Amino acid sequence: MSFSYISHLHCPKCRTSYSPHKQAHLCACGSPLLVVYRLDELKETVQRSELAAREPSLWRYHELLPIELEQNVISLGEGLTPLLPLTKLGHRIGISQLYMKDDGLQPTGSFKARGAAVGVSKAKELGVQELALPTNGNAGAAWALYAARAGIRSTVVMPVDAPAITRSECAIAGAQLHLVNGLISDAGKIVSQAISDDDSLYDASTLKEPYRIEGKKTIGFEIAEQLGWKLPDVILYPTGGGVGLIGIYKALTELLALGWVQGKLPRFVAVQSAGCAPIVEAWKNKQSESIPWPNASTLAFGINVPKALGDFLILDAIYQTEGCAIAVDDRALLGEQRLIAELEGAFICPEGASTFVAARRLRDSGWIQDSDTVVAINTGLGLKYPHVVQTSIPVLEPGDYLNRRSTISGRQSTSREETG
Ligand SMILES: Cc1ncc(COP(=O)(O)O)c(C=O)c1O
Ligand SMILES: [Zn+2]
Repeated sequence: MSFSYISHLHCPKCRTSYSPHKQAHLCACGSPLLVVYRLDELKETVQRSELAAREPSLWRYHELLPIELEQNVISLGEGLTPLLPLTKLGHRIGISQLYMKDDGLQPTGSFKARGAAVGVSKAKELGVQELALPTNGNAGAAWALYAARAGIRSTVVMPVDAPAITRSECAIAGAQLHLVNGLISDAGKIVSQAISDDDSLYDASTLKEPYRIEGKKTIGFEIAEQLGWKLPDVILYPTGGGVGLIGIYKALTELLALGWVQGKLPRFVAVQSAGCAPIVEAWKNKQSESIPWPNASTLAFGINVPKALGDFLILDAIYQTEGCAIAVDDRALLGEQRLIAELEGAFICPEGASTFVAARRLRDSGWIQDSDTVVAINTGLGLKYPHVVQTSIPVLEPGDYLNRRSTISGRQSTSREETG
């Protein structure tokens, strides 16, 4: 029995195949490559019931991951995060089966740990010694830390406006960190230039290596397993590069092919910020690709991606599942972030909060029904974004009288000037 049932890499645009045993990046036609597994063989050898006894990490799905030798796995204990019922919020919104897949509870505090664990493990298997990537912060932090564990050197380029903690994460991991006075797209151009000047540098940019998506897809396996191998009706995902959405769609398609789940795929909802909504615009216009969003800006920094390389894959997943794309503004997502902390005790990231605003709006419009099982993905820890919550709290002197009514609790900030 193999540790991985990887077969080959496949181009979804021109259908060319590539070997998984050599370093691979984009197809010659410019498209990202996807990993294909020997599902027919796997179906004959593994039963889904065997998974229950396995370790509580994403490596429980190792046959459907690309690492061929178990000794190459680099793990910090990622995966198998809670699928929390949000009963009180669901009651308010009018969705009785509302769940949050809480990926704030990951090593490095964001779902980027999944992509980094699998991407770095595969890079190690392929003999990589140094990697480079542009990032909006969380991915750089995760890749820098996992690369450190693997003994791989890393170079990270991120916008100066990315959450400050992610700089510290890269720095403490010993990464070569560079800040750019611009967007992730500008960071991407700088990384591409560095890679074209030095071919020993492995390009770990979003979708430019085929394995990060394989890590992120495990969110889909976990949702299915945690729901007792049933599929939800709707999945809402905060979409920047869209790797998680493409990955979850891929995962559920693989589970259907294996016969481990039955029925219809959930409707996928790509949630973006009103300050950067290229996928929403493309979906509204029924297009298969997006056009770059001008002057992109949002507090939900992880989804500030003006043009995703895999936009056609995101849009395809939405069209194939009769899903939709929706933009929410920063003020609304901050309000939702607060409500979720007050009602449910979860301090989630702004990107994650955007999915609940979307759920609320789609329920109001009737697109989501009360009978739907709805899963919203929280991609990170609110603790990584302390600047979005402003506090103005009186400081007492020892012996002061405690006037419980005078305490001003935190408020949230929507403008960059107010933050910090
Ligand atoms: C917290 C958070 N949520 C969502 C995203 C968007 O992820 P994806 O590239 O899968 O769309 C990011 C990416 O940086 C992020 O850091
Ligand atoms: Zn191709």
